[in-house]
Amino acid sequence: MDLQDPRPRVLVTRRIFAPVLERLSASLSLDVHDSDQALSPEALRERLAGCDGAFVATTERIDAALLDACPRLRAVCSMAVGYNNIDLPACTARGVLVSNAPDVLTETTADFGFALLLATARRVTESEHFLRAGQWRTWSVDLFAGQDVHGATLGILGMGRIGQAVARRGVLGFGMKLVYHNRSRLPAQTEAALGARWVDKDTLLAEADHLVIVVPYTPETHHLVGAAELARMKPGATLVNIARGGVVDDAALAQALRDGPLAAAGLDVFEGEPSVHPGLLAASNVVLTPHIASASLRTRLAMAHLAADNLLAFFSGGTPPTALNREVLARPR
Ligand code: GLV
Repeated sequence: MDLQDPRPRVLVTRRIFAPVLERLSASLSLDVHDSDQALSPEALRERLAGCDGAFVATTERIDAALLDACPRLRAVCSMAVGYNNIDLPACTARGVLVSNAPDVLTETTADFGFALLLATARRVTESEHFLRAGQWRTWSVDLFAGQDVHGATLGILGMGRIGQAVARRGVLGFGMKLVYHNRSRLPAQTEAALGARWVDKDTLLAEADHLVIVVPYTPETHHLVGAAELARMKPGATLVNIARGGVVDDAALAQALRDGPLAAAGLDVFEGEPSVHPGLLAASNVVLTPHIASASLRTRLAMAHLAADNLLAFFSGGTPPTALNREVLARPR
């Protein structure tokens, strides 16, 4: 980064795709942390202190203390859809624009949610590990017999864009019955098209054969599914979490996988990731993936371009397409 460069300075907090960097560097002065290791909170504060903008993902914590240490900062643009790592009210109070990356990842993430559902219910990874370990000696009548997906009841906790895309796959592709719980109900027409039934959370837990969790992580959704909720689920049910670690109490989940009622779980997100609860690592009836639900190459590129679109629009005086706090745009830039 050239400190004499009069253009807005932007910290890119991780290694990202070259074409996206090229677009950004045409009109912004970049400081690129070209690494897959997230900056420590101290290093982030130091690097961001002289910057006007930040390109972030899910791993950079942008809170009030950091904002106070970075008074030049005017825009924080994330390539993720979830923004629980960013204190939005604190940014708005300081006139800092925040954007996320919705829509471009919806279908890819729903594909992966469904992949986890299928792998979990039909014990795909567990049986593969058995085969690779040389343990396959003979055919047997119930070898890795799992749970059916087709015709079963799909429960969706969090019926936003991604929840609806998972629901479409279940209903239209696999003939599943659909129950869901969400703060707001779907329009009647959408409910009718999917045969979707809104139920309260306890009914959802009691009725779902396969529960898919897709709610944003907020203080209200912390441990939304804990020991009491897991105890309400059907014996033999499965649970998939593609939302955020922290929505599910991982310790309680590990216990429910060991002692029942759950048959299995599929998890892409974890409390305290990249650390994973030892009880989950020890369980054979859980499919574990490293937060990759949106990770098709095309979608990750689209997410990064969308974060760049927001930065470029903001610093050229335009309207960032997926701003979360447009009200700050009324202030001088
Ligand atoms: C990924 O978890 C995202 O929020 O985009």
